[in-house]
Amino acid sequence: MAYRIAVIRGDGIGPELVDSALAVLAAVGVALDFEFLDGGADTYRRTGEALSAGAVAAVRDADATLKGPTGLPHIRKPDGTEAGLLGGILRNGLDLYANVRPIRLLPGAAPRLRVEPGEIDYVIVRENTEGLYAARGKGVGNARAMADTLLVTREGCARIARHAFELAGRRSGAPADGVRRVTCVDKANVLRTMAFFRAVFLEVARDYPDIEAECRYVDATAQALVTEPERFDVIVTENMLGDILSDLGGGTVGGVALCPSGNIGADAAYFEPIHGTAPALAGQDKANPISQILAAAMMLDHLGETAAADAVRAAVNAALASGAVQLDRFGGTRHGTAATTAAIVAALR
Ligand code: IPM
Ligand code: MN
Repeated sequence: MAYRIAVIRGDGIGPELVDSALAVLAAVGVALDFEFLDGGADTYRRTGEALSAGAVAAVRDADATLKGPTGLPHIRKPDGTEAGLLGGILRNGLDLYANVRPIRLLPGAAPRLRVEPGEIDYVIVRENTEGLYAARGKGVGNARAMADTLLVTREGCARIARHAFELAGRRSGAPADGVRRVTCVDKANVLRTMAFFRAVFLEVARDYPDIEAECRYVDATAQALVTEPERFDVIVTENMLGDILSDLGGGTVGGVALCPSGNIGADAAYFEPIHGTAPALAGQDKANPISQILAAAMMLDHLGETAAADAVRAAVNAALASGAVQLDRFGGTRHGTAATTAAIVAALR
């Protein structure tokens, strides 16, 4: 029986990245049936909605969804926000509460930090349905003032904390000391919502006595992710803080072009790069497909196809370690999308 996979190719560099990931998936030997869905900024321009209700239902009913980046800076809604982003529709619409973002230093990456592969290997678990971005499309105000509300609920904080501890239980700890550790990152010294997030985190932590629980403020964490990234294993944090810290983490491992993510709920999940659509690179065979290929590997993990997922990650590592794929200092590939894909497919075989 084949898995039913929905595919949203997206905008900008999205289609070439997704095609690259599909070429890699075709080489792993897991039976997948694809359903291609229209979604994003171009879909909005043509139809007036970024994703149809039918497409949302298809994502819900699929075993998993592979999504390219969506959104184009010049395609905006009347309120000034971008029209092609699907986060509000899919993350909130399908209650995909865990945004799981592995930050791992790959061989051949060329970050400005002096770090070795193995020294950065942590996962940011970003709360994905509440926090400040719960205000998406709901801000109130007038021409002189505007307010967006940061919302957290007990159940929302508890389930994301549980997700983080469960994930830490399946990992082998922080690179520095091998300690399984979940770090709650917040601003509990200033905001009541964040003190609440921390308090619920510490309640949940009692159910996981074998995993170290620590709390840190977000500003100090931003520094620590640069100065001592090897101490981190799993980070759990509020939606916008996770958005910002995951790009920072991407910067420390040589660029967000190398960073995948999963948006995971009880009933559905989709997998995508953490970066945007890079319209300036689109259609020129310039974009690095590694983030999308690693997102496809996370999708295989989610399906339970762990051996295939490991094989994809090993092929990416091998292509980088051998120099078959070379990266620049921003995580771009020196050979183009097609040649990078071919090198990774060759390493897989
Ligand atoms: C991400 C993206 C989106 C987000 C944007 C495009 C709305 O930056 O997935 O990190 O922050 O939710
Ligand atoms: Mn982001």
